[in-house]
Amino acid sequence: MLNRIKSLIEDAENFSANSLQELEEFRIKHLSKKGSLAQLFEDFKDVSNDKKKEVGQALNELKQAIQLKIDAYKEELSGGETSSTNVDLTMPGESITIGSRHPISIVRGEILEIFSRLGFTVSEGPEIEDDWHVFTSLNFPPEHPARDMQDTFFIEKNPDILLRTHTSSIQVRVMEHTKPPIRTVSPGRVFRNEAISARAHCIFHQVEGLYIDENVSFADLKQTLLYFAKEMFGEATQIRLRPSYFPFTEPSAEMDVSCALCGGKGCNVCKYTGWLEVLGCGMVDPAVLENNNIDSKKYTGFAFGMGIERLAMLKFQIRDLRLYFENDVRFLKQFSGSL
Ligand code: DAH
Repeated sequence: MLNRIKSLIEDAENFSANSLQELEEFRIKHLSKKGSLAQLFEDFKDVSNDKKKEVGQALNELKQAIQLKIDAYKEELSGGETSSTNVDLTMPGESITIGSRHPISIVRGEILEIFSRLGFTVSEGPEIEDDWHVFTSLNFPPEHPARDMQDTFFIEKNPDILLRTHTSSIQVRVMEHTKPPIRTVSPGRVFRNEAISARAHCIFHQVEGLYIDENVSFADLKQTLLYFAKEMFGEATQIRLRPSYFPFTEPSAEMDVSCALCGGKGCNVCKYTGWLEVLGCGMVDPAVLENNNIDSKKYTGFAFGMGIERLAMLKFQIRDLRLYFENDVRFLKQFSGSL
């Protein structure tokens, strides 16, 4: 009996199957009710006690050898079967949709890039700020309406902590740790307690600019902004500065650009004025420099701040601010060509 088992083990080890059919025949031959293994177990009953151990071990070896072959070929043969018969290679592939940059990111990138050509670095600051960085050091008097609950989101437990209402707070952060000359642009998200409409939102984005050095004049401010306007809106663009007021600049101005849509002739986008308001600017108030330990007798500077949503609206003719926040892909994918 032992010899029979040994020769069957050898057979099993030498067995090879070319198809599932052949493998099934092998299985039936050995493992079915009338197969070789069943027969051997039947005969095992008559084996004398002193041989039982040896024969038993040989039987187990045979069983394992058969099972191993079956498992190995099953995987190999059925694997081959799936790839050759179950996959339809003529089916169209699944398309991968490519995302696009948000118009706010596109315009922010463009603004930073234009100023980087003039040697401006990029700086950032925290969105959760304190009164000093957003208001006091920027020369806002204690009773200034911007501090009003209507305009600013305060943290209830500590009204000294608030969400920044403008990126001018980054100016202060930069002045704290940088000695002039300073030339930096600071992009960021700002928050105001506004009702949401087509023209206003409680969250929006700004880019702040700050230039401090010896002998910086209003002429430098004007030239820098003219360069920016031409790069942003086209070579034919003209700028106009109107006197304005900000607590942190003196003198202060608001800048308009000539309407690129009508070339300044007047249309419904520029409300028939030929001009579009784009940013606030001015010479940094000496009090702001002194608040931040910069000698205002030695240094002068200019600053400016612009809303990214507004610039993107003008550039892409977007008429409703809310579209920026809805993230409808049909809206978003229109700007990918402008990368
Ligand atoms: N912080 C102003 C705002 O949010 C914008 C601004 C105006 C920034 C004049 C400046 C500036 O740096 O000089 O409306």
